[in-house]
Parts: sequence; C-alpha cells; structure tokens
Amino acid sequence: MEFAEVVRRRKMVRTYDPDRPVPPAVLERLLAHAIRAPSAGFSQGWGFLALTEPADRDRFWAATSGPGTGGRWLAGMRAAPVVVVTHSHRDAYLDRYAEPDKGWTDRDESRWPVPYWHIDTGMAALLILLTAVDEGLGACFFGIPPERTPPYRRAFGVPEEFCPVGAITIGYPAADWRSPSLRRGRREVAQVVHRGRWSAVAPDG
Ligand SMILES: Cc1cc2nc3c(=O)[nH]c(=O)nc-3n(C[C@H](O)[C@H](O)[C@H](O)COP(=O)(O)O)c2cc1C
Repeated sequence: MEFAEVVRRRKMVRTYDPDRPVPPAVLERLLAHAIRAPSAGFSQGWGFLALTEPADRDRFWAATSGPGTGGRWLAGMRAAPVVVVTHSHRDAYLDRYAEPDKGWTDRDESRWPVPYWHIDTGMAALLILLTAVDEGLGACFFGIPPERTPPYRRAFGVPEEFCPVGAITIGYPAADWRSPSLRRGRREVAQVVHRGRWSAVAPDG
C-alpha cells in the first residue's frame, strides 16, 4: 500500500472479527516496526506486552475494565485476537542522559521539555497502528484508567518502573461504528499551523 494511503486509511477500529486470528508473522512485523520508532538519545525506553492467548486477553480485560463497565465498546474490543500494551521506561532515559555524552548526571526531570519516555512510546504505538493498516488489519489505541493500573500490573507482573502508556487492540475489522468523538470533525491545517510567527503580538510585549 502507498504510504499516503496507509496514513489516510488509518482510523481506530473498535470491533473485530473474533474468528480471524492475526497470523504470528504479521504480529512479529508489527512489533519489529514498533522498535524502529525514534527515541531520545536512542534510549529505546519502552516495553511491550503482547497478549494472544484467550486466557491472557480475558485477564487483561478483567483487570482493566473493572466491575460495571461493559457495553458495545468493550464487546467489540474484547473480540480482538491480539492486545499489545505499550509501556514507557523513564529510568532508561534518566540513565541514558546521565552518560558522559549527555551529562545530565543529576537525573533532574525538569531538564526534559516534556517526558520523552512517553513520547517515544507513543511514536512506537503509531508505527504499530500504521503497520496494522498496511497489513489489512484494524487497530485501536486506548488508555488504561489510572485506577486499573495496579490490578493490571499485578495480573501480568509488570514492574513499577514501566508505565502503561496505552494498549492497542489488533485484528481484522468487523462492521464498525463511528466514535462520537469524530463528530468534532477534523481540524483544518490552516486552523492548527502557524506560518512564520504564531501571532501578531509578540509574547514578551
Ligand atoms: C492518546 C490516545 C488515547 C485514546 N484513548 C481512547 C480510548 O480510551 N478509547 C477509544 O475508543 N479510543 C481512544 N482513542 C482514539 C481516539 O478517539 C481517536 O484517535 C480519535 O477519535 C480520532 O479517530 P481516528 O483515530 O479513527 O481517526 C485514543 C487515541 C489516542 C491518541
């Protein structure tokens, strides 16, 4: 598929064909592309948990959904034959930037413009989403609610130093529904891009 078409066709898919597994070689391509993502200082401070066994996926949904949640969203997402949880590893960045070529030996987090450990994990997640489209699959990135993070960690033995940034369901799409969020419409390039300068008034007066 042409790259522009992959980008144009990418959308979050929240309903999957439960009877069509993701071939193992395809899953390996998704993961191999994830680690091609850029990372600050080439820290590569990420970690992925791939769930393909039905019992593991059941454990994931039980740990992350909590009692009283359900409905169409969960039913559709649960049908996905693969879930990949993406994690960021802040200490890998603080360690990397304490090395002599960077020199931030105080490991002070205020040095970071934004937490690059989360950014880089997001970039890896996007490569998974785009590769899924290229492979004819659907995928959806979603967050694990903060209060469900401890049960999730316990269920899968995820160490404290790895932060679950988001999970991705992956599978062959079934008849999908449109997220209500899409009613917002896509913002135009002209609404979000500032050319030459941001505004007419200089920020410092
Ligand atoms: C950081 C992030 C968190 C998201 N969390 C959820 C989520 O919890 N549940 C969900 O159904 N979609 C989630 N989405 C998907 C967005 O709703 C979706 O990307 C947006 O509505 C635009 O639709 P599209 O990706 O299909 O173009 C998330 C997307 C991002 C980037």
